[in-house]
Amino acid sequence: MDSMTSKDKASSVTREGFLPNEPLTLAGVCLDNDSWGLLTSFAERAPLVELKGNFDRYRTAESESITEWLGSPPPNICLIDFDKDRRSATTIAEKIHSSAPDTSIFAVSSQAQPDLIIQSMRSGCTEYLVKPVDREQMLNAVARVAGRRKEKKGTYKAQVLAFVGAKGGSGVTTMVTQLGALLAKTYLRKSIILDLHPDIGDAALYLRLTKYKYHSFELLENTDRLDAELLQSFVLSHSSGVDLIPAPEGGEAFRRIPAGAVTQTLDFMRSRYEFILVDLPTLITEESLDVIRDCDQLYLVTVAEVAALRNVVRQIEYFTRKQIPQERIRVVLNRHQKRALVTEEQIEKVIKQKIFWKVPNQYAHVVKTIHGGDPIGEISNSDVTRNLSEWARVIGKKPGDARKKEGLGILGLWNR
Ligand SMILES: Nc1ncnc2c1ncn2[C@@H]1O[C@H](COP(=O)(O)OP(=O)(O)O)[C@@H](O)[C@H]1O
Ligand SMILES: [Mg+2]
Repeated sequence: MDSMTSKDKASSVTREGFLPNEPLTLAGVCLDNDSWGLLTSFAERAPLVELKGNFDRYRTAESESITEWLGSPPPNICLIDFDKDRRSATTIAEKIHSSAPDTSIFAVSSQAQPDLIIQSMRSGCTEYLVKPVDREQMLNAVARVAGRRKEKKGTYKAQVLAFVGAKGGSGVTTMVTQLGALLAKTYLRKSIILDLHPDIGDAALYLRLTKYKYHSFELLENTDRLDAELLQSFVLSHSSGVDLIPAPEGGEAFRRIPAGAVTQTLDFMRSRYEFILVDLPTLITEESLDVIRDCDQLYLVTVAEVAALRNVVRQIEYFTRKQIPQERIRVVLNRHQKRALVTEEQIEKVIKQKIFWKVPNQYAHVVKTIHGGDPIGEISNSDVTRNLSEWARVIGKKPGDARKKEGLGILGLWNR
């Protein structure tokens, strides 16, 4: 018993679905008079819908730039009439889909055969409106776009923290999993670990989250479909509250990740988290470099050994050549011992910068954590966890969260 009129629904969608003060822009391509008339009256009643016009020709020539034609920014929704010339309509839908991926495309047609609908979806249309288009059909389709747009906006603006080891076994995964768990549990920050090892990563193992279907590289391959629901299907949740997108389990064929996929994925994830910790392989891949270009902080994790330190120097030189700003790069010394053969002074001289953080050496405790799958539970009193907790506090404290360093006991001994 639905007594709501279309008009009532229009105003309720306006209230709940659309973003306040941000109009949705709509444009038509070769729309017939009836469909255009409906669109005009629809826009008149929905104050947050703005019409850009009805283009009277399918611009299919290679030389014609879609973005110039549609304007900048392109409309949020483009309604294409498929009846006048189906082939050109399909071509134009494909062109808009690839040049303006944020524009939603609706096919408008008097034909409703399933194969035609499927064909239009393949060309990038997300809705198929059958003529004569009625107001409610239009309203629901527009509301879905508005809802997706709102969802895409998210509410956070995550910091991306990238971690690379000077050599395998430097402690990257240990740090990423412990810091992630601490940020989530102790500092109540919405955090996620992204394991970007192309071939077997350890983050899932260290968190004992070993049952999963999808991995990080599949996410990168599907960025064009990325929405909150898709992202969620990749996410594993740890009891500490930290989320994880695991790496491939290995043995898979080489993958070609589309250009821009890393940036697009991180952009999307940034709006849904406060911290994104990326566990990167020692050997820098194309994807790693994209992450490093986009990240807020790059931590080079090393141990006080000659071979590892030599690699840190090489890595810093390489990143400088790739125009990564120096101030973004921080060196973390893991397994630190006061009486090490290579001294801190010697290290800082070689790497030509201060050591940013020192994590104590405590092998038995770290191994125990990995074995238990709970990075901060079992050994909450260990030096390593307390040290990383202090680091997480520095990263994760909110303004006004002041806690005095004097009160940190043994933590004060580290990182002076
Ligand atoms: N601070 C530390 N003290 C002692 N052992 C550590 C410490 N950090 C890591 N380890 C040990 O070093 C090994 C490699 O750590 P891992 O985090 O897997 O390194 P990576 O991810 O860089 O390859 C693990 O066995 C881990 O237990
Ligand atoms: Mg690792």
